[in-house]
Amino acid sequence: FKTIDDLELTGKRALVRVDFNVPIRDGKITDNSRIVRVLPTIQDLKAQGAKIVLMAHFGRPKGTVVPDMSLALVAKGLSDALGGEIVAFAVNCIGSDVATLIGKMDNSDILLLENLRFHAGEEANDPQFATELAKLGDVYINDAFSAAHRAHASTEALARLLPAAAGRLMQTELEHLEQALGQPKRPVAALVGGAKVSTKLELLGNLVGKVDVLVIGGGMANTFLNAQGIEVGRSLCEVDLADTARAILEEAAAKGCKILLPSDVVVASDLAPGATALTVAANAVPADQMILDAGVNTALEISKELKSCKTLVWNGPLGCFETEPFDAATNVVAQCAAKLTKEGSLLTVAGGGDTVSALIHAGVVDDFSYISTAGGAFLEWLEGKTLPGVKALEDAA
Ligand code: 3PG
Repeated sequence: FKTIDDLELTGKRALVRVDFNVPIRDGKITDNSRIVRVLPTIQDLKAQGAKIVLMAHFGRPKGTVVPDMSLALVAKGLSDALGGEIVAFAVNCIGSDVATLIGKMDNSDILLLENLRFHAGEEANDPQFATELAKLGDVYINDAFSAAHRAHASTEALARLLPAAAGRLMQTELEHLEQALGQPKRPVAALVGGAKVSTKLELLGNLVGKVDVLVIGGGMANTFLNAQGIEVGRSLCEVDLADTARAILEEAAAKGCKILLPSDVVVASDLAPGATALTVAANAVPADQMILDAGVNTALEISKELKSCKTLVWNGPLGCFETEPFDAATNVVAQCAAKLTKEGSLLTVAGGGDTVSALIHAGVVDDFSYISTAGGAFLEWLEGKTLPGVKALEDAA
C-alpha cells in the first residue's frame, strides 16, 4: 500500500482515520497511548502543510447520539499531547457545517470530527455515508490499525473513494507484526493466555502451524489439562472442547510445534485478594479448589524456553493477574522476557488490552520491543485473517 510519502499533501484536506477509543474514567483519559502513538502522523502532515481532519469512533453508540460518548474530551487530550497546540472540534462528522469549518482551515491546522458511530452508516459501511465523508477531504489516510478489523465506512469504503495511504502508526504496527510472525527470527514462541479456549480457537489453530513453541496459559490451559484426563477441580474449564483441544495438540505434534502446558498450578478455593493459595502439581488439583495461576516451576520452565528463542508473541495473561497473589507467573515470565529483550537476544511483541495491563502491572511494558495499540485487530491478525481496513489500502494501491 501507499504511505504518506506517496501523497501530495501541501494545502490538501487530509482525512485521517485514527483510533481514539481510549479508556476514560470520571471524565479523565486514563491511558493516552492511542493518542500519543498517532502523533508521528500528525507531525508529518503538519510539516507538509496539510489541513488535518481527524476521524474517530468512541465506544459503541450504535448509530445514535450519546453525549457521554462524545469525542470533545479527546480533542482536549490530543491538544495536551501536542503541548497545548490548538485542536478544533466539530460537533458532527458530516454535513455542510463541517464542510464550512474545514473550508476555513489554514494549512497545518488540526480538526477532530465528532464520533463517527453517532451515524448508523459508519458501522453499516454505507456507501452514502462514506460519500458524505469523502466530500470533506482530498486524500484519505488510515492510521487506525486497531480498528482495521472492522469493515466500516471510515476504515473500508473511504479508501476506495479518495487517494488512500497508510499513516505512520499503521505502517509501524504491520511492520512489527510481520517481524514477529510473518518472517520471524527463529525459534519463535507464542504465549497465549486468557480465560477461554473458545475465544482463541482460531488463534491456536493458526499459531501451531507457524511457531516453534506454543505456551498455553490462563484458564485456557485448564481445558487442555482436562482433555488429557487431568482433574481440574472447580477450575474454569470448557469440557465440551476436550476433543478440539486434543486435535490442536495432535496437530502441533505433527507440525513440530512444541506445546508448553502448566506442570504446576496455584490453586485457591476462591478468587479473592490475598486468598490462601497453594501450589500443587497440575495433576493433583484438589476437587474443591480452582486453578488461578501457573505455578513457579511452570514460570521457570517458560522462562528457560524463552532463553533459547529469538522471537516472542504474547497475547493473554498466565493467571488472574488482577488479583494478587495470582499475578506471580505472569510477572516472572514478563520480567524474564523483558530482560532478554534488553540483552538483545529476544524480540518481544505483545498486544491486547489485558496483556498490556498485565505487562504494566509487571512493570515491564516499556521494555518490550513492541506493544501494539490493538486488541481485537491484533488477535485477528494473529489468527491469520485479512483485515478489511488493510485490504482496502492494498486494493487502493
Ligand atoms: C478497539 O478498541 O479495539 C477498537 O477501537 C475497536 O473497537 P470496537 O471493538 O468497538 O469496534
